[in-house]
Amino acid sequence: MTRTLPGRDTVMHSDIERVLISETEIDEIITRIAKEIDRDYSGSDRKLLLLCILKGSVVFMGELMKKITVPVEIDFMKVSSYGAGTSSSGNINIMLDLYRRDLDSCDILIVEDIIDSGRTLSYLVNYLTLKGAKSVRTVTLLDKPSRREVDFQPDYHGMIIPDLFVVGYGLDYNEKYRALPFVGILKPEVYTHN
Ligand code: PRP
Repeated sequence: MTRTLPGRDTVMHSDIERVLISETEIDEIITRIAKEIDRDYSGSDRKLLLLCILKGSVVFMGELMKKITVPVEIDFMKVSSYGAGTSSSGNINIMLDLYRRDLDSCDILIVEDIIDSGRTLSYLVNYLTLKGAKSVRTVTLLDKPSRREVDFQPDYHGMIIPDLFVVGYGLDYNEKYRALPFVGILKPEVYTHN
């Protein structure tokens, strides 16, 4: 780990080429999204269930739930779509399912860190709707529309990004870099030499 200039936004890692979205920018983005969610769900007498898709969304979820002021409950699912490397396999496997008896009274908001092919969220929206949720919407911190393989648009999104390999703020490469407090671009030699 290489620490350069002082200040939370400038803490660097030697495998990171550059910071794409700083901590301060992420905070502003999440504040804006939380206000949109508050606006849309305030006054509802139904249950708003924030559904975190493990593992990558856990950091975004933790910040988002603190900034939303309408009452929420939280739950978790784990699915896998990527293989061990940098590209999507296209397969969706449910590793941890959602077991609740009150789905018919839940407005589910699926919380994702990133949309790439769109297959994960497209699958999950359909799956949870069929399971009986009252409504299903989606929020993603990052969106790579240039990588879409299925037609999918999130209801709320943080930032549209180009097709770069990003890590940090929950996102990993081979399970590393999730704890970085910013979104950074990984040096190509890190994943081409493995
Ligand atoms: C990532 C990400 C999304 C999905 C997006 O999860 O968190 O769930 O891939 O890709 P898609 O739009 O092509 O379906 P990943 O499978 O890497 O698991 P992780 O969150 O545990 O890292």
